[in-house]
Amino acid sequence: MNRFLLAVALLAPVPAIAAAPGGVPELPPYQVRTAQPAGDRLQPGRDPKAVFEHSCGYCHFPGGMGTNLLTKQMMMMKRPPSDGILSNRRDLSADYVKAVVRNGKGAMPAQTRVDLTDAELNAVAAYLAQKGKK
Ligand code: HEC
Repeated sequence: MNRFLLAVALLAPVPAIAAAPGGVPELPPYQVRTAQPAGDRLQPGRDPKAVFEHSCGYCHFPGGMGTNLLTKQMMMMKRPPSDGILSNRRDLSADYVKAVVRNGKGAMPAQTRVDLTDAELNAVAAYLAQKGKK
C-alpha cells in the first residue's frame, strides 16, 4: 500500500463521524464569542456577567484553553476540577483578577484596554471577586 492509500485508510472513519444527521455540528461554546452587551464600553453599569462571557468566555467557558489549564492546576492542588471554571471560584480578589488580565499569566495573554476597557475590567473583577464573599 502506498502512503496515499494508507493515509486515506487511516482517515476513513473521520467523515463517518462528521456526517452526523442534521448537518454541521454546533460549535462548542468556547469556539463562539457571545454578543457584546449593550451600552457604552467606557462607562460602568453594564451587565458584568455578560461582559465576562463576551471577553473571557472564549477561553474560560467549559472546554476553553483557560479552563483546561486551570482545571489541571486545580486538580494538582487537590481542589475540585469544577474550580477550573473561573466563575466557580470563591478565592479570587478583584485586584488579583485585574493584575492577571492586564499583565497576563503563564499561557494567558495580557488583555489591553482595547480588548477590555477599564470600566469593563472593574465590572468583571468585581463580579468574579464578589463570588468569594457569598
Ligand atoms: C486567550 C485566552 C484567554 C482569555 C481571552 C482570557 N484568559 Fe484568563 N487565562 C487563560 C489561561 C490559559 C489561563 C491559565 C494560565 C496559566 O496558568 O498558564 C488563565 C488564567 C486566568 C486567571 C488566573 C487564575 C489563577 O488561578 O491564578 C485569571 C484570574 C483569569 N485568567 C482571568 C481572566 C479574565 C477576567 C478574562 C477576561 C477579561 C480572561 N482571563 C481572558 C486564558 C485566557
